[in-house]
Amino acid sequence: MYSSISLLAAAASLLTLSAPVLSFTSYANDFIDPKLILSKDFSNVTVDAQATILAWADELAAEGPWSVMNKTYAAPSGNKHDYMSWAPYWWPDCSKVGNTTELTPQQIWVTCPYVVKDGQFNPDGRTVDDVGEFDDIANAILYNALAWALTGTSEYSSRVAQYVSVWFLDGDTAMTPNLNYGQMQRGPTGQNGTHTGILDLKCMAKVVSVVLLLREGKAAEWTSDIDAGLTNWTTSYIQWLTGAGIALEEKAAPNNHGTFYYNQLAALQILVGDTTGANQTLHEYFTTQYQWQIAANGDQPLETARTRPYHYRAYNLAAMITNAKLGEYLGYSVWNLTTGKGTTIKDALDYAITLSPGNETADELWPNVVAVGAVYGDPDGSLSNFMSQHAGSSYPSDAQFLWNQPFSDSGFVAASKNASDNAGAAQHSGTGNGAARLCRGVWETFAMGFPGAILTLLLAA
Ligand SMILES: *[C@@H]1O[C@H](CO)[C@@H](O)[C@H](O)[C@H]1NC(C)=O
Ligand SMILES: *[C@@H]1O[C@H](CO)[C@@H](O)[C@H](O)[C@H]1NC(C)=O
Ligand SMILES: *[C@@H]1O[C@H](CO)[C@@H](O)[C@H](O)[C@H]1NC(C)=O
Ligand SMILES: *[C@@H]1O[C@H](CO)[C@@H](O)[C@H](O)[C@H]1NC(C)=O
Ligand SMILES: *[C@@H]1O[C@H](CO)[C@@H](O)[C@H](O)[C@H]1NC(C)=O
Ligand SMILES: *[C@@H]1O[C@H](CO)[C@@H](O)[C@H](O)[C@H]1NC(C)=O
Ligand SMILES: *[C@@H]1O[C@H](CO)[C@@H](O)[C@H](O)[C@H]1NC(C)=O
Ligand SMILES: *[C@@H]1O[C@H](CO)[C@@H](O)[C@H](O)[C@H]1NC(C)=O
Ligand SMILES: *[C@@H]1O[C@H](CO)[C@@H](O)[C@H](O)[C@H]1NC(C)=O
Repeated sequence: MYSSISLLAAAASLLTLSAPVLSFTSYANDFIDPKLILSKDFSNVTVDAQATILAWADELAAEGPWSVMNKTYAAPSGNKHDYMSWAPYWWPDCSKVGNTTELTPQQIWVTCPYVVKDGQFNPDGRTVDDVGEFDDIANAILYNALAWALTGTSEYSSRVAQYVSVWFLDGDTAMTPNLNYGQMQRGPTGQNGTHTGILDLKCMAKVVSVVLLLREGKAAEWTSDIDAGLTNWTTSYIQWLTGAGIALEEKAAPNNHGTFYYNQLAALQILVGDTTGANQTLHEYFTTQYQWQIAANGDQPLETARTRPYHYRAYNLAAMITNAKLGEYLGYSVWNLTTGKGTTIKDALDYAITLSPGNETADELWPNVVAVGAVYGDPDGSLSNFMSQHAGSSYPSDAQFLWNQPFSDSGFVAASKNASDNAGAAQHSGTGNGAARLCRGVWETFAMGFPGAILTLLLAA
């Protein structure tokens, strides 16, 4: 997602007339075909996106490495290696448990019944932050792997190897390969994971993009030990993901939860070399959930029904696009595949861009617009016009502009280069404000009194 800070950075760049490097933004999900990057056959309009990727790689690395051991509390199993998170919209109702004045937070977590308030984030949710740490490591390795591919500099690939080892493989710090304690609802009956917790690891599609890039690009730092270790870890995790009751509940979820489950499973099957299984997984999605997710007018009714419909439409679109990109990697093209209502992913995007975001942030939709334009084309320029009008002149600086090509830059890249040449200062305007970072950054800002309404607009769940 983008943030208000990235808009400030964009505005500042107009003043200085130099190409902006956008502040960091965590996309809901994506899958990048390694062949696309390794070919290095980049359009000249992607120069600013490339600069952004290098800046994000360093910015994210400054906070690594990450591990499930960093949380203060262990999962109910007593094993800190077990991944753990709390369901974001669940709140304690202590009204019936007597005088709670002296209950510590830890006692409240197990004593008071918890109730759901859809769309309202419980502010203590990131007291245990395995979900934020996983988001960070997935992004850090993504941009460092891309930076390695762009520059050939081993510092980037070394970071990827280190971060993967710490999160998945090293005995002292590794995560056990299950989500038995993902999105616990808490309270006396909520001390176990729920199916929605499987969503926490949706960005495995980014992780797999990284592995394929370093493998196929033959990065020296991506050793056979690391590759074999991660393949072994993933084999165990796939067994959990295809066998555990809550994992199968998530697979059956009709809305974005189901779509993201397929992102994760298909990507991981590719990682372990099971391309036939991955293809079957995607085929299953496109013949089940996909068939009813897009209405005749392009709406996504299951997402529109939620409390933050603009977010959820963009969110499920990102998951559908990721499934389609995974399919394309396997030679299974679904871009023209129609739902039961005769609609495609393009129809869902075309509908989403006609709507007003209301009190929600609009920018989560932008990477989807560029991705769809890159695949289906944009003959009448309506998608690039949308980007010019809503995202402004900085949109070609966004990282995903590199791998979602061809897409018009609306002349902004040449104009900004020209302007900075004329000014004699062909420099980028810097990496923006670290406070704009998504998951961790936003929650930390929240802890300092950031308004909850803005928080709910920025975060996905
Ligand atoms: C998280 O854990 C890793 C591995 O132990 C450690 O290197 C890193 O410093 C920890 N990060 C924080 C913020 O504590
Ligand atoms: C609740 O417990 C606190 C601390 O022991 C005490 O000061 C307070 O009076 C109690 N409130 C009620 C309503 O009993
Ligand atoms: C927690 O879930 C696991 C499977 O995910 C199950 O084996 C276990 O019985 C559950 N525990 C409780 C207390 O419900
Ligand atoms: C393979 O993964 C299993 C389960 O995580 C683990 O117990 C085992 O040590 C791993 N083996 C190797 C060779 O990495
Ligand atoms: C993937 O599945 C589709 C749909 O069943 C099929 O047409 C295609 O041949 C499969 N591709 C591979 C590589 O298995
Ligand atoms: C969809 O089908 C049309 C007609 O066969 C074809 O020209 C187009 O390239 C296809 N689009 C995608 C994105 O595959
Ligand atoms: C990219 O190349 C085209 C064709 O040579 C040129 O017209 C355009 O100005 C170039 N754009 C940039 C940003 O350099
Ligand atoms: C580049 O700058 C020159 C001189 O200021 C101007 O004439 C030209 O129109 C500019 N080109 C673009 C693409 O902005
Ligand atoms: C945003 O707008 C919707 C629809 O108008 C409303 O139901 C919701 O309460 C608003 N949310 C916030 C956080 O203001």
